[in-house]
Amino acid sequence: MHFDYSEQKYVFPISASLYSLIPEVSPFQNKHYNACAVVGSGGILSNSYCGNEIDEADFVFRCNFAPIDKYKSHVGSKTNFTTFNPSVLEKYFNNLQTIYDRARFLNELRRLKGAVLWIPAFSFHGSNMVTRTLTDFFLEHERQFNPKLNLAWPGNVMKYFSDFWKTKGLSPKRLSTGMIVYTLATMFCDEVRLYGFWPYSVAPDHTPLSYHYYDKKGTTFTMKWKQAHQLPEEFTLLQHLHKQGVLKLTVTPCSS
Ligand code: CDP
Repeated sequence: MHFDYSEQKYVFPISASLYSLIPEVSPFQNKHYNACAVVGSGGILSNSYCGNEIDEADFVFRCNFAPIDKYKSHVGSKTNFTTFNPSVLEKYFNNLQTIYDRARFLNELRRLKGAVLWIPAFSFHGSNMVTRTLTDFFLEHERQFNPKLNLAWPGNVMKYFSDFWKTKGLSPKRLSTGMIVYTLATMFCDEVRLYGFWPYSVAPDHTPLSYHYYDKKGTTFTMKWKQAHQLPEEFTLLQHLHKQGVLKLTVTPCSS
């Protein structure tokens, strides 16, 4: 396999066990959906009451294994696809170091019930360790997933996505996960509705917001660690596409 972005030119061998986890055909092959919801993780979703509207979509995409349990009325409960950045394992599951972390992770995975877990494990060479931890975990628990976990690796699709957005004037170091997922959604969905996209610290009605809807109370809104992204530029482009009727961007509370 090769890594995306800067390391495109290098090819790395992978273990037979990891190879066995990778689907032979894309989980999206021959798939088509009418209305899809792409749920970004912005604080704008807090108190939005968009849960029902999101769940009405035929297919729901989410980002980075974002928690939904405590936020169902605002973010919905249906998940057909979620990305899984390697950093999630360290940030929220303590790198699966204790029995408790492993049990919690297993529980969350079981809840995905046949959804696609999209792991950009080959974005950077540095995420190699995470890939190994995940591979071992999946192999160990494979039989406990019913229906089977649908794993997917993006392969070199990222490069095509970046090249495409460059033609629209957007060329960040890295596209945000939300933008990548939106791009994916356009490949299988007639209509794409976006929620949770709002890279600003206050809502349109001037209410202060957290960066993620699931951030702990009091966490300061900062985009410092997101320097590789250009979220405001992406957002401006999405707004433009909304005005043209290409997509539907929801940034105000949903009517229930
Ligand atoms: O992996 P990444 O850092 O890009 O994403 P994240 O922090 O897990 O959030 C998921 C996606 O939601 C982002 O990639 C953005 O597209 C979107 N988002 C947003 O538009 N405004 C925010 N305040 C937070 C996230």
